Amino acid sequence: MDEERFIKKFEEVFRATPEIISSAPGRINIIGEHTDYNQGYVLPAAIHMSIQFLAGRRDDDRVHIWAENFGDESSFSSRNIPTLRKHHWDSYIKGIFWILEKNGFSPGGINGLVWGDIPIGSGLSSSAALEVSVINGLDMLFQLGIAPMEKAKLSQQAENDFVGMKCGLMDQFISVFGEDNTAIFLDCLSFDFENIPLNLNKYDLEFMVYDSRVKRELSRSEYNTRRSESADADLYLRSFGLPGYRGTTLDMLKMQKDQMDLVLYRRARHVISENERVQKAKQALQNDDFLTLGQLLFQSHVSLRDDYEVSCPELDLLYEFGLEFSGCLGSRLTGAGFGGSGIALVKKKDADVFIREILDLAQKKGYRIPRVFPVKIDKGASTSIL
Ligand code: GLA
Repeated sequence: MDEERFIKKFEEVFRATPEIISSAPGRINIIGEHTDYNQGYVLPAAIHMSIQFLAGRRDDDRVHIWAENFGDESSFSSRNIPTLRKHHWDSYIKGIFWILEKNGFSPGGINGLVWGDIPIGSGLSSSAALEVSVINGLDMLFQLGIAPMEKAKLSQQAENDFVGMKCGLMDQFISVFGEDNTAIFLDCLSFDFENIPLNLNKYDLEFMVYDSRVKRELSRSEYNTRRSESADADLYLRSFGLPGYRGTTLDMLKMQKDQMDLVLYRRARHVISENERVQKAKQALQNDDFLTLGQLLFQSHVSLRDDYEVSCPELDLLYEFGLEFSGCLGSRLTGAGFGGSGIALVKKKDADVFIREILDLAQKKGYRIPRVFPVKIDKGASTSIL
């Protein structure tokens, strides 16, 4: 339905017919936060919200993109794109052309139309979804023959080196590899992964997203700071002869406490403890043990709030309310933090009351009214010829 409407729009804007449609989802991360760029473990799941990309080849090198959500057009050459680092919605698309060229691929000019229903800047990975929808679309249009994991990695590199956000692989990975009713356990050192069925329906549970609608001004630079702090902490551990995050236990870390800078110590404690929680969460899901999973979500939030310092009062509210509300098994911030979204594992029968009460609470506190809604755990990206 939507598709037909947008094909019409494409034809109106470009006086040409689109050849392909590409779709890539956003995600929630169940657990494993700020671990991906530390060669740790993550456990994300793709959701029903996505970015859609309609495109057709042109005879020249120009790229013309219409972004329906912004009512805005961007036009640039598909080659020699300057890395301006100016943040704009089209940076993610330019970044894909840029990284493809850098890696020896040469997609030509296109007309493209993008739209989507992932709230932008909400921490549900609208940018990764945009990157993945575009790289998949170009791969199909120009028969580039790029393997799925390579697409995720190239998209991540575009975001790291073109957009300037030093993110890990999680968001692009799950957008490519997501599956219906499935979380994916990814080892960010070996890039091995394992599908973990999410039997939420069987137990009448659902994941609720709480989009705080808050975005800290400096979130990108703060993210990059966390990334370098945790890399420093890892180096520090190695300088004591310890094996770094993957081999150091919490007890081993504790023994270094007096020698280490306190901030670096806390960053390391988050990464090491979060990796342990991801492994426990994986096991809990394999046993359909949602009570344990819920406890791990709460613990993860505390660690992100106190040790990694990426929470904010609005997301702490979700955690605190989740602890009190009997129909909620666990809640925590999801994604980078600094505003953005949280998730709560909630009994379906209590979902309406959960939403009503947390909205009331946010209002009483004078916070921006959040968006709170259940998510369907959905499949990863797909592309088809029209
Ligand atoms: C953002 C990044 C991911 C990951 C999370 C935090 O979503 O894009 O790579 O680091 O933050 O876990």
